[in-house]
Order: sequence, then structure tokens, then C-alpha cells
Amino acid sequence: MALWGGRFAGDSSSMFKQVNDSLPFDQVMAVQDMQGSISWSRALAKAGVLSQDEQQALETALTEMQAQARAGELDFAASGEEDIHSFVEAALIDRLGDTARKLHTGRSRNDQVATDFRLWVREHVASLKQDLNGVIRSLLSVASRHQQAIIPGYTHLQRAQPIHFAHWCLAYVEMFKRDLSRLSDLSGRLNQCPLGSGALAGTTYPVDRYAIAEELGFDGPCLNSLDAVSDRDFVLELLFCASTSMMHLSRLAEDMIFYNSGEAGFLQLGDTVTSGSSLMPQKKNPDALELMRGKCGRVFGALQALLVTMKGLPLAYNKDMQEDKEGAIDTVSQWHCCLCIASEVLDSTALNEARCRQAAAQGFANATELADYLVGKGIPFRTGHDIAGRVVLLAIDKGCAIEDLPLTDLQSVCEHIDEDVYPVLQLEYGVNQRNILGGTSAETVTKALYQELEQLDKR
Ligand code: ARG
Repeated sequence: MALWGGRFAGDSSSMFKQVNDSLPFDQVMAVQDMQGSISWSRALAKAGVLSQDEQQALETALTEMQAQARAGELDFAASGEEDIHSFVEAALIDRLGDTARKLHTGRSRNDQVATDFRLWVREHVASLKQDLNGVIRSLLSVASRHQQAIIPGYTHLQRAQPIHFAHWCLAYVEMFKRDLSRLSDLSGRLNQCPLGSGALAGTTYPVDRYAIAEELGFDGPCLNSLDAVSDRDFVLELLFCASTSMMHLSRLAEDMIFYNSGEAGFLQLGDTVTSGSSLMPQKKNPDALELMRGKCGRVFGALQALLVTMKGLPLAYNKDMQEDKEGAIDTVSQWHCCLCIASEVLDSTALNEARCRQAAAQGFANATELADYLVGKGIPFRTGHDIAGRVVLLAIDKGCAIEDLPLTDLQSVCEHIDEDVYPVLQLEYGVNQRNILGGTSAETVTKALYQELEQLDKR
């Protein structure tokens, strides 16, 4: 029978049950629900609502059920219960009878679900942080394996200036570090305990809300009962954190799909993270990367869906809010998988350093160096830019690189160009000139790499 059966003369229709029941998905919060109930039973005992024996019996049963939940031994489907809260209460009543019927004193599923879901999110935030650190570790490791490698840097997907491959890796490290710090911000706001807020107005029983919060590892109790039961900002923030991080993963995937293409040929992906074609025997497709990019759709969708669900809701709890879970549960599992597979992809990546170097040297990526060289000869940059542009035109005309033009050709464009231009046009020269904080020189990149490795060990 439903928890609320007393007032009803008739049963729910089966279609209503299908729309209304959340047990098929909120069963993932079973352990958290039981944890919340253990703390609530202790609070009720302290408030004189439960005897010590009753509390002990409840705690023992709930602890046993937690072990069963962890072992996957609970048969949720067969119970026919509406949600995880009614499932746990019904199972307790089965075991303990009237003692269990006292547990819901002063509590509502509204403050219960808000508490359970915060506990669930908190736990997953902790493991997602580990996943993010895993991707950072893999980026630092592939960067360390190819510290000397130089690749073309792009703007507008046109070769722009050569950069160290490690510099590219470190750019993604910055993004994933921001994702980590966003999760830390979320943790601070998330960590307030709704229990004791009742259905919406608080509870009449003198439970110690500070003690409950502390016991459940919260920083303190939520300060307003209406807000406590109707706030889902912590879910929205999680979905935003996931969306931003998935966007980072997607850009990483996009770069790597291009680097892996036959046209670029900068890297090869491992057999463990690629698949073949059923028709074309030669194919080795970057499916893992494409899925990292592709799964953004459902994750961004979950954020949008919950924002829209929440925007018109009057205070306090409304059943619409039950829609917060499926998108969030799916998002957490997709984000987790994508972070893990990103690590695997990076670990299995073999960079073709010679090919990278060749590509970096093509496309007149040293034209900026020529303009800067002319600045060194006392020519204003804008004039130097124009001269370098004309040299590029000449090189295109002759079908060669700038550094392959004889001095006479270079001097035909600008008499200030001398023999000393040639070292300036070498690939490493331009890269290592960018020796400023945040730049791509070997020295700055190596320093940044070691700093990040050090930080990683501390996290
Ligand atoms: N299953 C609900 C949810 O996930 C919690 C129950 C609150 N139900 C209620 N009738 N007040 O939001």
C-alpha cells in the first residue's frame, strides 16, 4: 500500500503509476536514503520520540539494508513501491513493524529527497574530481613523452604559428583544472542539510538540526525550510559543471580527430579505443573521440531541461521536481565514462613527431618571425608585416618555403633583409622566442609541465 493510502478509497491507475513512480531511477540513492534515515532516527531518539531500543533496531536494520544495497541484493522492481523513500520505509516495516512506522515522525519525503540527492551528488562530485585528475595526469604524461615535439598552432583552422605539442596539452590541463575548481565551488554551496525542514514549514519535534547536519557530513543545516525543500540549484550547478567539462572534452576530441586524420597524420590512436568499418577493410575510426563529442547533446540537454522544469515552479515542493533525477544520473554516468575514455585515448596515443614538425614548418608559419626580424632592423611593425606578406607571395609564386628563398630574392622585396635572417626563420627559433609566461618556448613549457606534475601530486 502507498505511504499515503489512508485518504484514498481507490487505487492508482497503472498509467498513473508509470508516470508517477520514481523507484526505477531513484533507487540509485538507496544507500544515501538509508544514511539519512539513520541520522533521523538518532535525532528522533534524542528528541524523545524513539526509545533507545527502537532507534537501535532501526539503525541495525538500516545498516544491514545498506550492505544489501551495496551488494545489489535488494529487489526494487518486485516491491511495486513508488520511490526509494517508500521502498526503504516499507522494507523496514516488514522487518520491524510498528517501530518502523515511527521513523517518518516529523519528516517529509520533501526534505528527505532533497537530503538524499545532495548526498548522492556530493559523493559523485568526489569521484568525478578523481576522473578529472585522471585526464590531467594523462595529458601531462603524453606531454612528457613528447616534450620536444612541435606541431602547427591554428587559428581559423589555418596554420598560424608553431607551438610545442606539450603547450597544446597544457591548454587542456588549464580547462580541466577550471572544471575541478567549479566542482569545488559547487561543493561549498551544496553542503547544507535540508533534514528537519519537513514538507515545507519545518518540524514541530525538537530535533537538533546542527547535529543531523554534522553527522551527515554537511557544513550546517539549510536556513529556510521553504528553500530547503524546493532548491535544486545544486543539480543545476552539477549539470553546468558537466556541460562545461563535456564541452572541453569535445574540443579535445575535435582537435584529436583532426590530428588523427589522414590529411594531418599527426598521431595514431590505439586499437583499444578505435573501431573498424564493416565494409571498408582499411578503416580505423576514432569512435571514442566522436562519442566524447557526441554525448554533449544529451548532457547540455539535461541542463536545459532542468532549467525549464524549475523556472515556473511556485514555492515550495512540486512533483515536477522529480524530473531532476534522470537527466542528472545519466549526465554523471556519461561524464564519468567520457573522462575515463579520454584518459585511455591519451594514454594510447602515439605522436608522429616527424610529421608534426614537417606540418609546423609548412604554411609560412614563420612569417611573423620575419616581420619581427624587420622590427629588429628598425622598421615599424606594420611596414614589416607588409614586407613579410610580400615575401610570402613570392614564396608561393616560387613554390617554396620562406627560408628556401635565396637572399637575392628576399632583398628584392626588402634591402634590409640580410644573411642573419635565416636562423630566425628556423622552426625552433620562433617557438623558443615566445619565452614569456604562458608562452610556448621550450623553457616555459617545461617549467609549466613540472609545475603541473607537482600540483597533481598534491591534489
Ligand atoms: N519521489 C519524489 C521526488 O523525487 C519525492 C517524493 C515527494 N513526494 C511528494 N508527494 N511530496 O521528488
